[in-house]
Amino acid sequence: MSTGLLGLRVDGARLRRSLEAMAELGATPGGGMHRLALSDDDRRARDLLVSWLEELGARVEVDEMGDIFGRRPGRDAALPPVITGSHLDTQPRGGRFDGVLGVMGALEVLRTLDDHGVETLRSVELVDWTNEEGSRFAPAMLASGVWAGALDRDWAWARTDADGFRFGDELARIGYRGSAPCARRPFHACYELHIEQGPRLEREGVTIGVPRGVVCLHWYDVYLEGVANQVGTTPMDGRSDALVTAAEMVLEVRGLPARMGGGMVATVGELTTHPNSRNVVPGAAHFTVDIRSWDDDLALRAWDALQAEFRAIAERHGCGIRVEETWRVRHNEFAPELVARVRDTAERLGYSSLAMESGAGHDASYLATVGPTAMVFVPSIGGRSHVEVEETGWEDCEAGANVLLHCVLASADEPAPGEDAV
Ligand code: GLV
Ligand code: MN
Ligand code: MN
Repeated sequence: MSTGLLGLRVDGARLRRSLEAMAELGATPGGGMHRLALSDDDRRARDLLVSWLEELGARVEVDEMGDIFGRRPGRDAALPPVITGSHLDTQPRGGRFDGVLGVMGALEVLRTLDDHGVETLRSVELVDWTNEEGSRFAPAMLASGVWAGALDRDWAWARTDADGFRFGDELARIGYRGSAPCARRPFHACYELHIEQGPRLEREGVTIGVPRGVVCLHWYDVYLEGVANQVGTTPMDGRSDALVTAAEMVLEVRGLPARMGGGMVATVGELTTHPNSRNVVPGAAHFTVDIRSWDDDLALRAWDALQAEFRAIAERHGCGIRVEETWRVRHNEFAPELVARVRDTAERLGYSSLAMESGAGHDASYLATVGPTAMVFVPSIGGRSHVEVEETGWEDCEAGANVLLHCVLASADEPAPGEDAV
């Protein structure tokens, strides 16, 4: 990077305006966002992003999983690019910063480079990954998983939501089933700016989080089959109540991390019962299990222990049980040289920083299996995320985008090994 660029900064007010404009698409009365993957609001957000990229003259490409790439060409188009972005989908009644900050931060980087006529050696590509959240179509990070080669495209297209809509059909319906292959290709560096989604940065009064990687994420689905019956006439003895059975299992999941140790977390986030009527003994239940840890083997052993408990509980209640191992992504470590760059860039720009791990899943986790990847975190107010009150200060958003800008610039001007910059 030329020394003349060291003073370059993003336009924080413009970044805020982009975030606020995006926050109108799927806004909830509670001040949050409900922009589920492949919904009409997702389409509107994509259209807006594409219009902004076209204004910049970026080359826009949509792949067959709906991922949107916006390329700002470098001087040498043959060199692997620098990729930066995140996702525009949100949780149900989620927040205004998760994902969208990384996409708007990337856009702000491209705009800043344009404002100042900065040419880079390598192309810089913004990306919006489809269906990161996984709350409408499980699993999470679906499209980056296909892109990285970890998940199969046809399997992904066939995923269904709670109403039976297929991912591939919904992608076509909103006009974002593109023609470019969703397949990994070499990149020189990948950066994802994101909110921390936890309490550490705020507690420690630090502006920039520097994760060394992302924990493993293991998702399971459990289906219980009991016996539905009239609540008033069915004796308490001998009932096969699928909800009571599930309740005992939920408590097993809750107690699991304390038994296993190792900083594990385990959660049941979804529970549905059938027929879900106050005067019918629940005849069937379905719930999800999410287990995360830095230690993949520990998470696997935890699941083995849990399954044994589940079977014993199901037997005691006379319920049938079926489990599905829905998704596993191992813990992935970021490239040490890029992690160091994020830390050093924060320091050079005068921001405090903290080394940490990411307990949240991110597309960067799959990207790290393809090429050198790192993330930039900024504080979450009150440590709240995936909820409507999710909040990050505008100054922190700007700080994160400035760190992103300078990390991207440094990587984009790095010559290929053994070559001099053109
Ligand atoms: C994704 O947001 C996750 O951490 O589940
Ligand atoms: Mn996210
Ligand atoms: Mn999320």
